[in-house]
Amino acid sequence: MALEPHVYGASDRPPRGDYARAAADYTCEQAYQLYTPADHETYRRLYQRQAMLLPRLACDEFMAALPRLGVCERIPRFEEINQRLYSATGWEIVGVPGLIPEVAFFSLLANRRFPVTDWIRRPEEFDYIVEPDVFHDLFGHVPLLFDPVFADHMQAYGAGGLKAHRLGACEQLSRLYWYTIEFGLIRQKDGLRAYGAGILSSSGELHHAIHSVDTQRLPLDIVRAMRTRYKIDSYQKTYFVIDSFQQLFDLTAPDFTPIYEQLKGMPGSGLPT
Ligand code: PHE
Ligand code: CO
Repeated sequence: MALEPHVYGASDRPPRGDYARAAADYTCEQAYQLYTPADHETYRRLYQRQAMLLPRLACDEFMAALPRLGVCERIPRFEEINQRLYSATGWEIVGVPGLIPEVAFFSLLANRRFPVTDWIRRPEEFDYIVEPDVFHDLFGHVPLLFDPVFADHMQAYGAGGLKAHRLGACEQLSRLYWYTIEFGLIRQKDGLRAYGAGILSSSGELHHAIHSVDTQRLPLDIVRAMRTRYKIDSYQKTYFVIDSFQQLFDLTAPDFTPIYEQLKGMPGSGLPT
């Protein structure tokens, strides 16, 4: 079956990635032999720069888990990471050709399988790329899958996504994903830190998210996050802050069905009123 590439939001560019390689669940082998020496070098440089920026900006759980990704001087093999990850939290990573449709994405998460794009950005995109690549997905998302509470939260999110799809509320739930898993901040003993993958894998946004005076930082409020539209191509104007992953897990544990109902009556929710 030829799978269609998937585009979120409005974009002038077709998504990258060869979806003909993907199985029906959108996963594919990591095409390791296709990486060039330049690709490995891009990964090594991205990793090195980013790792240097993290102290005092990334949360403790992320700092503790990052070394568990293993090699940093080349693109790691997904199987190498999986040996450690699976024994730590029962998660595994699977290759995908790029962004995948919502239901496929949610189903993988609900089964503790995290999709990782296998290709890497071109050298001229070193500082900025809109679509997730292997660096964003591995460096940004995978370390926290070693954290037991965060790992359980990701699975719950996947199951909640399948429900949101049935209820026509994917857009609202994906806003929550954006403001937590991608751009979340956490209050820790030494101050504000990032746990969102979009921040942790970006050289510019790390500092901006923690220190910019030009942004709002609000305590995480599920309804408010679901009513807040986001930009995919600039730094965020609003960040939501949690106190712990346990708090994130507890805030998102209740059934969201009444929340989606409530949102229907509210302007800015993205749902018909
Ligand atoms: N509890 C949410 C629901 O019932 C699902 C969810 C879990 C959403 C975790 C986000 C994170 O829909
Ligand atoms: Co991401």
